[in-house]
Amino acid sequence: MLVKWSKDLEIGVPFVDADHKVLINLLNQVDNCITEQEETTVLGSVLEALVSYTDYHFTREEKLLELAGYAAIDEHKDVHQMLFHKVRAIYHSFFADRESVRVDDVRSFLQSWLTSHILVEDAKYRDACIDKADAATQAGMIPFIHTNGSHVPFDEWGLLRVLLVDDNPNFGKLISTILKAVGITNIEVTQTPSEGLALMSRRPADVILCDWVMDEMTGTEFAAKMGEMEIPSRVVMLTGYSVDTLQSKVTSANISAYLEKPVNAHDLLDVITRTTFNA
Ligand SMILES: [Fe+2]
Ligand SMILES: [Fe+2]
Repeated sequence: MLVKWSKDLEIGVPFVDADHKVLINLLNQVDNCITEQEETTVLGSVLEALVSYTDYHFTREEKLLELAGYAAIDEHKDVHQMLFHKVRAIYHSFFADRESVRVDDVRSFLQSWLTSHILVEDAKYRDACIDKADAATQAGMIPFIHTNGSHVPFDEWGLLRVLLVDDNPNFGKLISTILKAVGITNIEVTQTPSEGLALMSRRPADVILCDWVMDEMTGTEFAAKMGEMEIPSRVVMLTGYSVDTLQSKVTSANISAYLEKPVNAHDLLDVITRTTFNA
């Protein structure tokens, strides 16, 4: 792990600390994927999540500063803009040329973010915000995603059970980070479809995110077996191919939705919302 969360990084406002943990987790995952050369698909998904979550964190942190009447809010916003610009630059250079994201760039960015921002800049607003419980509650309630103009309340995410079946452990870590960030804590991850079926026959999840290409059996075969075993979970098929290609090859009553890799955090949560809450 590149950076470990520690008490030194704590600001004392719960949603801020929770966001910082998610961001550190994502940055560690970026580092992991770069170190493991073949992880470009996962790296794309991690960078997507990092950009979205950075934007989200800055939005609600700035809301907190505004509601708490923090005097130096404009300076803080300027630093956020600069950091967001850097995250987006890494993201865009990756999608322009997948070999271009260098571990040294990411490491130095991470270091400047942590040392100069969380430890110095964010720590500065601590005294102005620590006793403003109402401001923290209001800012903390800003949702990560809006679906169809509404959003899923935090406590409803907490009721969901999700299974991920994907033979790539780095992808499993990323999906868990995104799901935990919105409050989904009932997450099971398995790298083998047969283990996934065994888990689901004991206690079905609400939604199963399943990779299409796996060694043991394909996602389509997995979904067919789910049908045979009368497991009621909804299956979302994940694919490195385009959704159109997959849909033209695979149609199954047991598959509720398709999602393309690199996975975008908003699309992932949106598809879960559509297949479960709005089903
Ligand atoms: Fe900040
Ligand atoms: Fe922050």
